Amino acid sequence: MGSPNSPGSRKSVTDLRRTGAIAILTLASPPVNALSEALRLGIRDAITAAGEDLEVGAIVVIGAGRMFCGGADITEFGRPWQGIGLGALLDRVEDTQKPVVAAIHGMALGGGLELALACHYRIATPSARLGQPEVKLGLVPGAGGTQRLPRLIGTEKALDMIVSGDPIDGRTALDLGLVDALAAEDRLEAEAIAFAERVIAEERGPRRIRDSDARLEPGRVGLFAAAREAAARRYRGFEAPQACIACVEAAGTLPFAEGLAFEERTFFALMMGEPSIAQRHAFFAEREAGKIPDLPAATPKRPVRRVALLAGAADLAEVFSSAGLPVVLGETATPETVGACDLVVAPADGPMARLDALAGPDAIVALTGAEPDLDALAAGSAHPERVVGLRAGASASGDRLLEIMRGRATAPDVLATAMALGRSLGRVAVATRPGGFIGPRMLARLRREADRLILDGASPAQLARVLDGFGLATAGLGLADRAVASPERDEAVRLAADHAGIHRRAVSDDEILERCLDSLVNEGARLLDEGVALRASDIDVVWVTGYGWPAYRGGPMHWADGLGLPLLRDRLRSRAENLGPDFAPSPLLERLAAEGRRFGDPGRAQG
Ligand code: COA
Repeated sequence: MGSPNSPGSRKSVTDLRRTGAIAILTLASPPVNALSEALRLGIRDAITAAGEDLEVGAIVVIGAGRMFCGGADITEFGRPWQGIGLGALLDRVEDTQKPVVAAIHGMALGGGLELALACHYRIATPSARLGQPEVKLGLVPGAGGTQRLPRLIGTEKALDMIVSGDPIDGRTALDLGLVDALAAEDRLEAEAIAFAERVIAEERGPRRIRDSDARLEPGRVGLFAAAREAAARRYRGFEAPQACIACVEAAGTLPFAEGLAFEERTFFALMMGEPSIAQRHAFFAEREAGKIPDLPAATPKRPVRRVALLAGAADLAEVFSSAGLPVVLGETATPETVGACDLVVAPADGPMARLDALAGPDAIVALTGAEPDLDALAAGSAHPERVVGLRAGASASGDRLLEIMRGRATAPDVLATAMALGRSLGRVAVATRPGGFIGPRMLARLRREADRLILDGASPAQLARVLDGFGLATAGLGLADRAVASPERDEAVRLAADHAGIHRRAVSDDEILERCLDSLVNEGARLLDEGVALRASDIDVVWVTGYGWPAYRGGPMHWADGLGLPLLRDRLRSRAENLGPDFAPSPLLERLAAEGRRFGDPGRAQG
């Protein structure tokens, strides 16, 4: 039995071989075995071939490389299925007349878990991660996950997994009945084969989840009401969590085939909608941020085992210590302890000679602060090549961002080390050039606009309501708290407005939103023009992971592309006439709008 893919016609993404009575179907589509058209067709052909092979008594499906399967191929979303749809393929797998055993290591996510659920038995390593993360892309599981998972592990647990999108490990999966057995980490294939042989010996045959309704709990109306309420609070503004709940509820109230059809309709409706498009954009933007055109992936990195945070840099303490890195803090720092650290973080205000003396010869020196003048500071160091800038998001502990500023002299291995460090800290690392970190500079523009709107007559509460209504988490941005109303503050605002010759008036909600968002995007365009930001999607990543921008709106630059750049330009131009040159469209925005292009058009990354 060879590969079902005919040689030369397309790259082989599956392998099918036989050991005794067991056919082993290996998914081999690196890096994550995403269920692309080629892989779906490969699985279909292999399952058919194994089903027809009289020597085969059972089939084991296993993943090559790092994982079982990372899910449907997200790059295909937005288009109809080609070849065979995932749902149709999984029906074929479940229909197979011989027992099919999924052997899971690494990840079984989304469509990957759904493939495992269409198999008749599951065996996993303890470290495997099984989950339905579709909700994080603004979707519901689209290939039976919402119908099969509750039938297997019960409605309540399935709701938890599908609505949160968070994976569970192999051991928990065993406890929940999601897998039938655990295998030793390094013996998965052998133990899966042994498992399949036992299934044959015991004549257990195929066991199809679709046929077992015992664990469904359609009568628990309160469970769904509570889930809806909790999701509305926890995922304010997101549609997909509610849609997930509706699909799981349908599993209990509709026959299997109708439940599947309901799920499929819901999936496609969400997939075509703005929120999911925005969340998919954010997913790929995060991955793109790690790629710096002139920094090869193989650039060597320095070890970072110990970190010193000098006085004034303590805002990053949480970032390092929560990842378990030993940290020497300002007050306990001695020349010896700092000298033994691989990374020394200091505020961007002290003389560099002091840092030169304190940091060990191979240490990286990171400067922090809102907008460090990195090149000028590094020029004052005897080792400018080891200097970078570091900055977390608006509320260091509550976000996932690490901005990394690369000076003119920063050495490639220093930049590569800082980027890798960000990832190992569980953060999304975004590279920036001197001229301000992306987040702080745009936030400063937003704050200026918020202050001016209040001078013009908007109330602080109105401002917070409008921006929160858009989905921006203003609480962490120092906008809403600065805007706490009090009679003294009102008086101070009136005086300041008088002083500035501003005639106070009622300001509409639309004006608040437009002025805040338009000026924010315009500042982002300036950062791009100046080469501070590498690409528009990096700005989106900064705002989604670090500054409370709602993922279902993709990021400010993605939002602006959706609005249309000519409209944005026109609004800014007319505001520049009325309110001043702060609103003048950035040269980049003028250019793109004139050419009918978008921020997100490919080919804009600069080295
Ligand atoms: N479809 C298409 N491409 C995918 C993918 C998917 N489901 N999952 C990952 N990739 C791509 C990434 O874009 C990246 O491509 P690149 O190297 O060209 O940038 C590459 O695979 C590696 O992914 P990365 O996220 O960098 O690897 P990781 O080991 O850190 O994480 C996963 C692996 C699977 C956990 C992570 O990629 C993930 O969460 N994927 C999405 C899972 C999901 O939501 N599936 C549901 C879809 S139904």
